[in-house]
Amino acid sequence: MEYNFDEVIVRTGFNSLKWDDAERLFGDKAVLPMWVADMDFKVATPIIDAIKERAEHGIFGYATRSDSYYQAVCDWLAKRHNWPIEKDWVVFSPGVVPALRLILDTFTNPGDKIVVQTPVYTPMFQMIKDNGRFVVENPLVYDPANRHYSMDIEDLRSKIDCSVKLLFLCSPHNPVGRVWTKKELAELADICLENDVLIISDEIHSDLVYAGFKHIPIASLSQEIANLTITCTAPSKTFNLAGLQTSNLIIPNKELRQRYVEKLNSHYLKNTNTFGIVALEAAYREGEEWLDQLIAYLHGNLTYLTRFLQRNIPQIKVIQPEATYLVWLDCRELGLSKVELQQFMLKKAKIAFNHGYIFGQGGEGFVRMNIACPRTILEDALNRLLVAIRDLESLE
Ligand SMILES: Cc1ncc(COP(=O)(O)O)c(C=O)c1O
Repeated sequence: MEYNFDEVIVRTGFNSLKWDDAERLFGDKAVLPMWVADMDFKVATPIIDAIKERAEHGIFGYATRSDSYYQAVCDWLAKRHNWPIEKDWVVFSPGVVPALRLILDTFTNPGDKIVVQTPVYTPMFQMIKDNGRFVVENPLVYDPANRHYSMDIEDLRSKIDCSVKLLFLCSPHNPVGRVWTKKELAELADICLENDVLIISDEIHSDLVYAGFKHIPIASLSQEIANLTITCTAPSKTFNLAGLQTSNLIIPNKELRQRYVEKLNSHYLKNTNTFGIVALEAAYREGEEWLDQLIAYLHGNLTYLTRFLQRNIPQIKVIQPEATYLVWLDCRELGLSKVELQQFMLKKAKIAFNHGYIFGQGGEGFVRMNIACPRTILEDALNRLLVAIRDLESLE
């Protein structure tokens, strides 16, 4: 079946954080939301059908995850990522961020050091700071000539010692959009193995990879690496199901798994959303057709965005993402300070982006734009931006 991603669906009035909270968050309900990472597209038909069927049953008491739920997760990882896993390794989590937080509690103590590769998804370093642990930054290296980020392996090697307990890997990387190569992952893993540092690999964006790139689950590289890795997965970004609070950790190492599960149970967090269970199964079993069409549509949006900026606003540069619908835009040539850029985007262009500085070191002067919307919404955003830029230029 062919899906119509051009269809504009009104989300205002449906408890949408992105659309209903513009006034509360930005003081202006006319601001166009191009920030938080969910999509303005209707989900795949099999998911809607499965949820409808479950809703028709009419009873929504405590739920349990059946064998078939776990099998769906295993089959998906084998099929899409060539990673054969065992059902026992799969541990439910209501979300990836809650899982990262519990992992921090389970495997580290106050005063411990945790590595993050900035600029990176804010909760990854914020939760470290907020909980008495120390952030060790291994900043990504930006090559302006190729507009490309890479890992600084030598810097990582120099910063890891026995006081470092964990490394938070974002793979693919939010916000810079990299799909890490086998070489990069293997080098990083070697350093972690040598120093007994747990790798927490957040792979929530791994299904949204553009043609020409291939996501490699770091734990699939070897058994040794798998033993030291906790991988976070979810259908939430892939299939636009973030409101259903359903994700899964893959923990091959039995001892790590037991420690994590004990912590999960002690926080009374093991209950699943009834609709999350059926949505996950429908998505992983019957959602591929939709997903492949989605990725093609997103790529069309990316091409549109890139051409529009090249032609009309060459001061703003696109860092071509290899995965995800989150696009990292270099706005430094506009010559605006951090506060000026934020004010300009909100008050003049009337667009809400995630501003780069919230992603830590190296993020200032950038914005993260969510392009998972019908093309007309993207056009609206770009036209707003163009008008605001022309006004800005006329003042100079
Ligand atoms: C890298 C990354 N991890 C986790 C999340 C959120 O995960 P969850 O909603 O399952 O807590 C996001 C959302 O944008 C993300 O980009």
